[in-house]
Amino acid sequence: MIVPGSRSQALAAALATTLDDTLAVPEFDRFPDGETFAAVPAAGTDTPERAVVVAATPSNDAYVELLQLQDALREAGVESLVTVIPYMGYARQDKVFEPGQPISARAMARAVSTSTDRVVLVTPHEPAVREFFDVPVDIVDAADRLAVPLAGLDTPLDDPLFLSPDDGAIDLARAVRDAHGAGDTDYFEKTRHSGTEVSIEPSDAPVEGRDVVITDDIIATGSTMAESVAVLRERGADRIFTACVHPLLARAARTKLEAAGVERVYGTDTLERDVSVVSAAPVVADVL
Ligand code: R5P
Repeated sequence: MIVPGSRSQALAAALATTLDDTLAVPEFDRFPDGETFAAVPAAGTDTPERAVVVAATPSNDAYVELLQLQDALREAGVESLVTVIPYMGYARQDKVFEPGQPISARAMARAVSTSTDRVVLVTPHEPAVREFFDVPVDIVDAADRLAVPLAGLDTPLDDPLFLSPDDGAIDLARAVRDAHGAGDTDYFEKTRHSGTEVSIEPSDAPVEGRDVVITDDIIATGSTMAESVAVLRERGADRIFTACVHPLLARAARTKLEAAGVERVYGTDTLERDVSVVSAAPVVADVL
């Protein structure tokens, strides 16, 4: 039985189809005081031996909902429970940056571990986050799925450059290039001055008249991508695509990108947004 969290309904459905498994329809509600409520009526009537919860956790409520779904399934008697976290919130607070701070990723991982046998993470910000869980963790990478929409362009990419905004994301750019089958890779140097203030130091890669695909794991506030697009525009790049696994798109991210002159913004369905044009289901299904 595949059980979706409210933020992962399309991905869970795609997984159920791919795996030819039952898709449970949970009940999502909210009490008058704001508390969330999530239940799995189907597990109460016909308890499966094994269940897979699929729940992105981009917010506090999403985390609580995931804990409730896990607990409901255990309460119903599910013996083997796998938790797929397509996008793991708080994963970027994975260390104490200033004295007195929490390791939020660890706190969340411990809570999620209490009612599951195994966890699957999709392209986590840092793979080392797996160490925070008390159960076995499988990591899958959905980066190569980002090549799929490029194959369907009306005007195919011509001599593309696959670029990452910093050296930490160069593997992602390479994965997309390899899956696309042609093109160069390079990376910019990024400095983050504050939560939303980012500056980008361009590389020497020739971009004039060229199609560029900027790849990153997350587009959050959009500052990283918008700065990168602006730099490329100044240097005469032709079409500029921004591709990410997790299209968080917080605050005015989308507008920032449009204002910077992006050709297209797209991502996978690890977070369900209007730009989630390609599914991570095949890579998750493989590991399940
Ligand atoms: C950071 O290292 C990540 O890989 C992303 O570059 C970052 O989360 C993007 O954030 P924003 O969209 O707020 O610039």
